[in-house]
Amino acid sequence: MVYISVIGLGYLGATQAIILAKLGHNVVGVDTDKAKVASLNSGQLPFFEPGLGELLEEMIHSGRLEFFSDYPEKLLDVSVHFLCVGTPQKVDSDEVDISAVLQSAAEIASRLSPRALVVGRSTVPIGTAEEVVKVVAEVSGFGSDTRVAWNPEFLSEGTAIEDSLNPDRIVIGVEDQESERVLREVYQPIIDSGIPFLVMDIRTSELVKVAANSFLATKISFINGVAAVAERTGASTKLLASALGLDSRIGSSFLRNGLGYGGGCLPKDIAGFQYQAEAVGATEFASFLRSVRLVNDGRIDAIVMMALEMLNGLSGKRIAVLGAAFKPNTDDFRGSPGVLLAKKFAALGVEVSIHDPMVKKLLGEERIRLLSSVREAVREVDMVVLATEWAEYKTLLPEELARLVRSKNIIDGRGALEAKDWASVGWEFRSLGEGGTSS
Ligand code: UGA
Repeated sequence: MVYISVIGLGYLGATQAIILAKLGHNVVGVDTDKAKVASLNSGQLPFFEPGLGELLEEMIHSGRLEFFSDYPEKLLDVSVHFLCVGTPQKVDSDEVDISAVLQSAAEIASRLSPRALVVGRSTVPIGTAEEVVKVVAEVSGFGSDTRVAWNPEFLSEGTAIEDSLNPDRIVIGVEDQESERVLREVYQPIIDSGIPFLVMDIRTSELVKVAANSFLATKISFINGVAAVAERTGASTKLLASALGLDSRIGSSFLRNGLGYGGGCLPKDIAGFQYQAEAVGATEFASFLRSVRLVNDGRIDAIVMMALEMLNGLSGKRIAVLGAAFKPNTDDFRGSPGVLLAKKFAALGVEVSIHDPMVKKLLGEERIRLLSSVREAVREVDMVVLATEWAEYKTLLPEELARLVRSKNIIDGRGALEAKDWASVGWEFRSLGEGGTSS
C-alpha cells in the first residue's frame, strides 16, 4: 500500500483517485471546487461514467479514499503526489495553458515530505516537467533532491475503468531508479497482470500522450478526407473503411467517418502539438497537423452544405440535431461536433433544437433549445441530423418520426442508420461519406 494524493478531481483526477484506491492504496483527493468535493465524499460522481459511480461509493466505504477542498496537513505524510489538473488551450491561441500544473506543483511543494515523489499525469507540452521541477525545488527548498516523474494517462471517456485497470500500456518518464521503484509499486497489480510497463526519459513520456492523441485524430481525419472524395464521386466510405480496416497494418479502430473528432482532449492536444511543432521549427509537421484539423472542421461545413442543398436555403428553417455529447456514453459536450453544428445552424438563421440522452444542460448556448425527448426535438422540423451515434438513435422508427416532422429530410452524420429503412418510407436520406445514398 502506498499513501497517495491526487490533485485536481476532474474527469482524469477523480478516475485516477478511485482506481488507485481500488488497487489497494490510501488516497487523498484535492480540488478547490467545494461542491465537487462534497459530491465525491458523499459517493456521488459529478459526471457520468459507466460503473465509476458504484466504484466510488465502494471506495468511500472502504475508508481508503477521501476528498478535500483545501490542501490538508496530511499531505506531509503522502509519498506520491499525482498532478491531474486541467491543461486547457489558451484563449485565442493554440498554445497549452500549463499554469494550473505549476500552481498545483507549488501548493504541493509547500507541503512536501523530503522523500516524496511528484508525478505529472496531465497532458502537457514537452518541457513542462522541467518547469515543475524548478517550481517544486524552489518552493520546497529541496534543490537537487527534488523528485519529479511523468505518467501520462490514456483513458477514454465511457471506458475509463477498463482503460485504467487493463490499459494497453503504462508509460512512465523518470530520471532516477527510486522514482521508477515507487511507480512500479503503485501499479504493481496491473503490471502483474501482464500489462507492458514502459520506462523512459521524461521528455519522451510527455510526448507520448500528445503524439498518441494526434495520431488518433489523424486517422479520423484521413477517413473523413476520403469521405469528402467519396461524397463527390459516388463511393461509400463505410464499405471502403471495412476493407481498409481488415489490413492488419492499418486496423479498423478510429476509422469511423462522420462529423469528426471532438471532446476535451483530441482537439486541444493536436492544437497544442501543432503549436509546439511550429515553435521548435518542425514546420512541415506543423502544417500536417494543421491539415488534420482543417479536415475535421470541414466535416461540419459539409453537413451545413448538404442541409442547405436539401432544404434549398437555411434561414428560417427548423432543424433537430440528435446528440449533444461529443460521443456516446458520456455527458461531456466539450468540443462536441453536434453542438458546434447546432451553433453554426443557429448562426445561419436556423431554429435549432437539440436532444441528448445524457446531456441535461448546455451552458452558454442560449440560441439552441435542448429538449428532453426526441419526439419533442423533431416536432415540426424541416430536417433531422444525427450527430452522435447513441444506441437509442439507431433504433428510431422512421415511420414514427415521419408523423412528427414537417418535412422528411434526414442527414446521418455518423453512418449509424440504415439508409433503406428511411428511404423506403419517403425520407430524403443523406449520409456523410456516402456518395450514393441521396434518397
Ligand atoms: C481520447 C483518447 O482516445 C484517449 O486515449 C485519451 O486518454 C483521451 O482522449 C485523453 O486525452 O484524455 P476521448 O476524448 O475520451 O479519449 O474520446 P475518443 O474515444 O478518443 O473519441 C474522440 C472523438 O473522436 C469523439 O468525438 C469520437 O466521436 C471521434 N471518433 C472516434 C470518430 O469520429 N471516429 C472514430 O473512428 C473514433
